[in-house]
This record gives sequence, structure tokens and C-alpha cells, in this order.
Amino acid sequence: MRARGAELYRENCVLCHGENADGRGARSMGLDRTPANFTDPLWSQPESAARAFQAITKGVPGTPMPAWGTALSTDDRWALVAFITSVSERTPANPTKR
Ligand code: HEC
Repeated sequence: MRARGAELYRENCVLCHGENADGRGARSMGLDRTPANFTDPLWSQPESAARAFQAITKGVPGTPMPAWGTALSTDDRWALVAFITSVSERTPANPTKR
């Protein structure tokens, strides 16, 4: 599940959320909103899974975060959630400020 999530993340999310999932992707500089930083332990909390799934499916209206509900299957979106919610276990927190 996580391996699939990591693969999907590399294909679709790295540009904005960054190689290290810390919100510092190549395209994040030009955005008016900072992409979420998944090294924040907030994302490892159980209630964050539903929030992440919702954001991935519907996007975050009014921000550059796109909706993936039609582009990615339900399984793929949950695989991404499994990836996101496990980032902070592997990567030390990296503050979003730059
Ligand atoms: C075009 C840039 C862009 C791409 C591509 C992108 N995101 Fe985002 N994402 C953002 C931005 C900007 C935010 C912050 C939105 C805000 O201010 O609440 C965000 C926020 C999020 C959030 C947090 C929402 C919340 O409730 O705080 C999640 C989860 C997320 N993205 C997952 C993903 C996943 C998974 C992918 C790949 C399938 C992805 N994003 C691709 C720009 C992007």
C-alpha cells in the first residue's frame, strides 16, 4: 500500500509537495499557498487520514491543490493517504517556513 502510494506520490505530487514531502517542491515557489508539509507529525495522527483523503479527492478549493477524485481510483487515493500519514515516521520534521 505504502509502496504504491510512494510511486503515485512521485508521479503526481512531487512537483508541489516536494521530493521529501515537506512542501518544498520545484513548483511550490510560484504558488500563492504553501503545499502541505507531510513531515509534520500532524499527518501521522489517525484523524488526518480522513482529512487527507478528502483533500486528495476534492482538492482544496481556492488553493492550487487539485482534485484527484476522477484521475485516481479510490484505492490509489487511499494508497496516497497511507504514504502521507507515514512520512513523519521516516523523515524528521522539516518546518514549512523558508
Ligand atoms: C499544483 C500543486 C499541487 C499538486 C500537484 C498537489 N498538491 Fe496537494 N496541496 C497543494 C497546496 C498549495 C496545498 C495547500 C492548500 C491549503 O492552503 O490548504 C495542498 C494541500 C494538500 C493536502 C492537505 C490538505 C489539508 O487538509 O490541509 C494534502 C493531503 C495534499 N495536498 C495531498 C496531495 C497529493 C496526495 C497530491 C498528489 C496526488 C497533491 N497533493 C498534489 C498543492 C498541490
